Amino acid sequence: MNIATSVHADTGLVRRTWQADMIAPTVDQGQGTRQSFVAASFTASAGARPKLFISALGLYRAFINGKRVGDDLLTPGWTCYDDRIAYQAYDLSNLVEEGENRIEIWLGDGWYRSQMMWKHQMVLNCWGERIAAIAEIVDGSDVILKTDAAWKSGLSPVTRSGIYYGEDYDARLETLEETGSVDVLDFDTDTLVAHETFPVRALQSNDPVESWRDSDGRNIYDFGQNAGGYVRITVRGSAGACVYVDHAEVLGPEKAFDKRNYRSARAAMRYTLKGEGTEIYAPLFTFTGFRYARTAIEGEAEILAIEQVPISSIREVAGGFECGESAVNRLVLNTLWSQRANFIEVPTDCPQRDERLGWTGDAQVFAGTACWLGDCRTFLEKYLRDVMHDQRENGAVPHFSPDPTRLHRDIFPDDWAGSTGWGDAIVTIPWQLYLHYGDRDILQECFPAMLRWLDYLWSISDGPIIHPTRAWMGDGFSFGDWLQPVGDNRKPRPTIGDDCAATLYHFISNELTAKIAGVLGDDAQRQRLLERAETIRAAFVREYFSQTGRLAHNDQTSYALAFLYDLVPADHFEAAKAYFRSVIEEADYLIGTGFIGTPALLPALSKLGMNDLAEKVFLNRKVPGWLYQVERGATTIWERWDAIGEDGTIYDPDMNSYNHYAYGAVCQWLFEDVAGVQPDPDAPGFARVRLNPAILPALGHVAMWHETGHGRIDAGWRIEGGRAIYTVTIPDGVEAFLPLAGRTNLEIDGHPAETGQAEIVLAAGRHNIGFDVSGD
Ligand code: BGC
Repeated sequence: MNIATSVHADTGLVRRTWQADMIAPTVDQGQGTRQSFVAASFTASAGARPKLFISALGLYRAFINGKRVGDDLLTPGWTCYDDRIAYQAYDLSNLVEEGENRIEIWLGDGWYRSQMMWKHQMVLNCWGERIAAIAEIVDGSDVILKTDAAWKSGLSPVTRSGIYYGEDYDARLETLEETGSVDVLDFDTDTLVAHETFPVRALQSNDPVESWRDSDGRNIYDFGQNAGGYVRITVRGSAGACVYVDHAEVLGPEKAFDKRNYRSARAAMRYTLKGEGTEIYAPLFTFTGFRYARTAIEGEAEILAIEQVPISSIREVAGGFECGESAVNRLVLNTLWSQRANFIEVPTDCPQRDERLGWTGDAQVFAGTACWLGDCRTFLEKYLRDVMHDQRENGAVPHFSPDPTRLHRDIFPDDWAGSTGWGDAIVTIPWQLYLHYGDRDILQECFPAMLRWLDYLWSISDGPIIHPTRAWMGDGFSFGDWLQPVGDNRKPRPTIGDDCAATLYHFISNELTAKIAGVLGDDAQRQRLLERAETIRAAFVREYFSQTGRLAHNDQTSYALAFLYDLVPADHFEAAKAYFRSVIEEADYLIGTGFIGTPALLPALSKLGMNDLAEKVFLNRKVPGWLYQVERGATTIWERWDAIGEDGTIYDPDMNSYNHYAYGAVCQWLFEDVAGVQPDPDAPGFARVRLNPAILPALGHVAMWHETGHGRIDAGWRIEGGRAIYTVTIPDGVEAFLPLAGRTNLEIDGHPAETGQAEIVLAAGRHNIGFDVSGD
């Protein structure tokens, strides 16, 4: 038989011709009920090297002769299932025996049909009501087994599971009975594509660092690290005894277990023992964010071991930053942990509460940092395909993707999409992928969607200022500078300068897309978008600048974005810079920015040469500030600057996550400005870098590394006798440009640099560059 595989010329998506059917267990009682499996037997000949191709509606876990296939988690993954569903391929050589074999595919509700979205707008059966599996076992060119009407079904020991719910498992039900048959579903196998990114897998597990008993006799374990994953327990006891495991990110006063911020996510597991010796259990079809676990035992049982198993799609670390200030090092580590926990199939806001959605705004501010810390190319490309699928007809980009609201207008009658700063993800994320990986194809693939987004922005603007509506679901609504730490920051109250921030993003996306059109050789679009960008720039200056160079919205976010994206006209430059400085000084170096201002703040200050201010803001220990949370023991990045108050009180548990990577976007500044390694858009994918470190004496020394497509780059500086010694190691295939302006007494590898040049090119290898600190 002919097993054809095809690769899409533009997207690179791989499809295969399936002979199998998508089969649904007849025993399945629907969302939230006991989970089911489908099974069949097959014969394999001696020396067979069979391969399994498999996917599902819902989540699956496959077993051959009772042994698990592969170690991937949460397969087939999460996408807009109405557009694409991933399939996986596994080599079965070591599992299949000569003669009779049995395959079981256990199914879980997963993202497909367990609760999505928060309680008051909960979506059940988001992508469909029936879970099902499709599989083929292929040996050479022969299909030796395929899912079809002849398969049997039954109920599994997973008595309930859901992404937010957690899992219940009754080990007494492990002897599977085939009590039902299957229905062949009407399913288009063209929807199936080879998994576009790395599989989710377990990272190294963590043992508890501390445990204690609460007043109700329950054990609480502290794993020392907030992470996305699950707990694995080793237990012994009598049949029918139960272990209930609950999760939390924080403790309240007197070490009280506090999971109020999970909202309607039960995020717990309940294991019922079979009572046969030592039993080990970890949930199959769920995960949650947690640092603490609390166990309650009903009946006769004993916990012999308990571990935290963090999971992630991005398991390899691709970059690091370290300096003489330990709180900063912890901040970088916290960012990495927030990335791991939230890069589970889709870049999500948080891994714990009844949300865990692929928020576009969070992803767009964090994409640069994400690519420094991990190889995120395929992960973010996959996400962008979902974002494009969810883009509305009018060009509005979703607030999050995969977007459950798009398919459930019964619950969300007004379309909820199209916020500035969020929808711009369709422009800024492909650009980061281009910078980091030289990925021109993703620019091409997303370009039409960018143009539609820009037309949408134009349509909600008013020649071309955008005045966002205050109506939560209204056309042109903007999250603004979400969670800006000024006054009451609950929406729909405007954050400072919503219109200004929206108009800034209107400009940013037009200008960036013009640049992208240039890369793609589309000159007509480039011209058109540049003109549009110029119109917005002129209107921006007219609308927001006073005659003396002060911005109408005299706040950190407006100045940071305006300077970073070159919207400050030359005649106002110095005055605006002075205003920017005084806004920060008046705030006593406390951060005044939210989701979109924060990533821009320090890069803008460094760009302006105001590194003294950048240093003070960055190292400020007070709230709001990055290091405040580190000093309060955070092991991941918090959603809110003030998530735990100075007196230990937990701020608004209704919306308060302790694992939200957005503010960790500051790491991009550490790599690019402080360590000074900047990817060059004219030679992307690190074919060329610019080296321009900002010397912040309070950091003592800094060192970064990053694994690029050409090899590893190392860069760092230390201060000796009033001189900065900047040491870099450049791999072959990377050109490094060192700008000379602003450096005094510059020496390169022991020789004075030639004056009169704007920059010099460093050859591959290790270099020592010295200059006066005062000249920085
Ligand atoms: C999420 C986000 C998101 C925001 C929208 C929150 O509920 O957790 O991180 O970006 O809503 O502004």
